[in-house]
Amino acid sequence: MGERKKKLFIQTYGCQMNFRDSEVIASLMKKENCELTSCREEADIILFNTCCVREHADQRLYGTVSQLKRLKQRNPNLIIAVGGCLAEKDKELMTKKLPHVDVVFGTHAIYELPKLISEAVEKSRNGNSLPVLRVGGTRPIISQAEFGLRADGHRAWITVSEGCHHRCSFCIVPHVRGHERSKPVDLIMEEVRAAVDEGYPEICLLGQNINSYGRDLPERPTLVDLFEQCNEVDGLRRIRFATSNPMDMTDAILEGMAQVPKVCEYLHLPLQSGSDRILWEMRRGYKLERYREIITKGRSLMPDLCLSTDIIVGFPGETEEDYEATCEAVREIRFDGAYVFKYSNRPGTRAVELPDQIPQEIVEERHRLLLDLQKSISREVNARMLDREFDLMIEGKAKESGYLKGRTRNHKIAVFKPPHREDGPASSRYRVGSEIKARIVGLKDWTLLAELVPATVAGEARVA
Ligand code: SAH
Ligand code: F3S
Repeated sequence: MGERKKKLFIQTYGCQMNFRDSEVIASLMKKENCELTSCREEADIILFNTCCVREHADQRLYGTVSQLKRLKQRNPNLIIAVGGCLAEKDKELMTKKLPHVDVVFGTHAIYELPKLISEAVEKSRNGNSLPVLRVGGTRPIISQAEFGLRADGHRAWITVSEGCHHRCSFCIVPHVRGHERSKPVDLIMEEVRAAVDEGYPEICLLGQNINSYGRDLPERPTLVDLFEQCNEVDGLRRIRFATSNPMDMTDAILEGMAQVPKVCEYLHLPLQSGSDRILWEMRRGYKLERYREIITKGRSLMPDLCLSTDIIVGFPGETEEDYEATCEAVREIRFDGAYVFKYSNRPGTRAVELPDQIPQEIVEERHRLLLDLQKSISREVNARMLDREFDLMIEGKAKESGYLKGRTRNHKIAVFKPPHREDGPASSRYRVGSEIKARIVGLKDWTLLAELVPATVAGEARVA
């Protein structure tokens, strides 16, 4: 009889990079005889992969982990590990604030996690309550092909670069993830092929600043080279990528998106502000006019391009005019969707030192009004999808009972009713990862309602 498998509970906060890191951690721990559980109470190891992009995330994490004290008292063998960006930012401070935590690991230490956890187990056996702390350093660039435990049923996240070489004045990411380092093409392709062999029909290439992929490699490959090589992989149907900074966007990338068949017509392009003065203070490296040029070109090359963005309101010194310029840009550009963030002071960033921090109530008001504006625009622009046919890649059950949800190439969610019972003979057609043809017949708030176009299955079902 083998040893009982240990149960691992992982809670992840923040961006897709963190979610991918958690998949890697889960894959590594599986090799150490661990299995995932979704129930904290039955876990032997509870692990938090944290975010520190906004202050709110810090507070929430400290609150949540503090509450685990009681669980630890009940089960002294429980191992609690807290890692990722907040651990990298707070370092020793985290071990002081959370003395019941056994392992604190930074973003660069994820591959060492099995070792760090066994050190903690050993320590607790010997009655040593000091935490294992591993922060700083630089994460090695390796192939993640063998870390195949993935959380999505149809989409494989593939990290193509780590860190960021920009210093946007509000952003803590480069401080906790380090400078930009690209992964060589052959390692990336090994991962892509492994994911497709395992049955994933879609990949999303990930980098904090993906448009500058490859600049630090001797052969200077580009994002478009990755598009082209991925496009050749049999069985792969959709290629996505994130995140693009307008500063490093090129015509070649937009043309690559339009020309390489499997690359989807979806672009997340953070604008941050519509005021050139604020963009300059943010050290974003572009003006609104350049942003306009990019999307005008993108839309002319890809008429169905779906465009989403990030916007920060309440950046230090943001006047009514600056804010109005952002609202005007949102009205003019008509994004499909926007993530609107309230500016948050992050230690170590340049913006902290700027004068004229905006009072909280004004930030709240600007946030609310801009969100409302964007919501009404999102609803209007979705109408362009009506009465047209699209390929939907099935992502799973919709909230409405008996309905499934799928995504168009341009990233819109649509719900539809499969004609047979899900467990009936036709069910494989409607498996997660299969593509079906559907006509958009209605809109319910932001959700598209679709009807199947009969007897057409655009893609193979994912096996497994
Ligand atoms: N290039 C990264 C950006 C990471 S942060 C990416 O992959 O998306 C994601 C978004 O959070 C940013 O685009 C910005 O809009 C927002 N953000 C970053 N720092 C912030 C801060 N200090 N306050 C408020 N929002 C912030
Ligand atoms: Fe942050 Fe700007 Fe890089 S938003 S991740 S410093 S491009």
